[in-house]
Amino acid sequence: MSPARPRILVTRRIFEPVLDRLRAVADLDVHDSDVALSPQELMQRLPACDGAFVATTERIDAALLNACPRLRAVCSMAVGYNNIDLAACTARGVLVSNAPDVLTETTADFGFALLLATARRVTESEHFLRAGQWRYWSVDLFAGQDVHGATLGILGMGRIGQAVARRGVLGFGMKLVYHNRSRLPAETEAALGARWVDKDTLLAEADHLVIVVPYTPETHHLVGAAELARMKPGATLVNIARGGVVDDAALAQALREGPLAAAGLDVFEGEPSVHPGLLAASNVVLTPHIASASLRTRLAMAQLAADNLLAFFSGGTPPTALNPEVLARPR
Ligand code: DGY
Repeated sequence: MSPARPRILVTRRIFEPVLDRLRAVADLDVHDSDVALSPQELMQRLPACDGAFVATTERIDAALLNACPRLRAVCSMAVGYNNIDLAACTARGVLVSNAPDVLTETTADFGFALLLATARRVTESEHFLRAGQWRYWSVDLFAGQDVHGATLGILGMGRIGQAVARRGVLGFGMKLVYHNRSRLPAETEAALGARWVDKDTLLAEADHLVIVVPYTPETHHLVGAAELARMKPGATLVNIARGGVVDDAALAQALREGPLAAAGLDVFEGEPSVHPGLLAASNVVLTPHIASASLRTRLAMAQLAADNLLAFFSGGTPPTALNPEVLARPR
């Protein structure tokens, strides 16, 4: 049986209206900070809780779960859940939910913003201007790569990949190639003029490659030195997936020595640290993991995590459960 008033650990600073909804039904332990709880702090605070509101930075693994026999639900405000050991949660009857859909269009907007900024050298030229270096108009000053009519390559054709693809094809007249474990339905391919290709062909054909795969052991360094070497001279790469999907050291080298013209990165291996070779490169647009960060979308993501917690602890069906099979067990 769920306790009358469950105790929920909120692992970070979130929006007050979301906390108010949770407070109405639960006792909260709120870590009211943007600095993530350390594994030791989680180990101290989570065992006293029935539920957890988390984001991408808290590692929920088997060792932590073993110390938390009271824990029943872990609800994340992120769509990516590589920080949560889903199998270990399921084995212990702990519900896990993520926050899909509500961030799809916002994240795709940002992916496209990075693509445009990268291809057209927006931040690099702004830094030049702000540094007082602009003396005269020049025929090839910050001349970049065209986006319209170019070939867009998408690695990972889930919801966000498809939303980026729509922007490219319908907005910018781009040709579309993609690689994904499963192919899109024929009618979706036809509507976007999308062509499924193997990974090597994708790398060889894309003028602009956008990476949108989930991070798993299988996608660790999915794009490394060998893959970067297959890309077209002058191509660009955008990563809005997760740090670790791209080998950042190899990317820094490809930006220095070719074949890449430029990259746009919102995620990094070991973030918030960033590889010094990327920080030193002028041909890379760097942003601090903000692809889903419009205020409206971040609020919707947090509300969705709260919806899942509230539904779970009231005996209802959490809307975006990742392991709904645990709901069949007594609550
Ligand atoms: C997600 O939801 O997985 C994002 O990366 C967090 O903004």
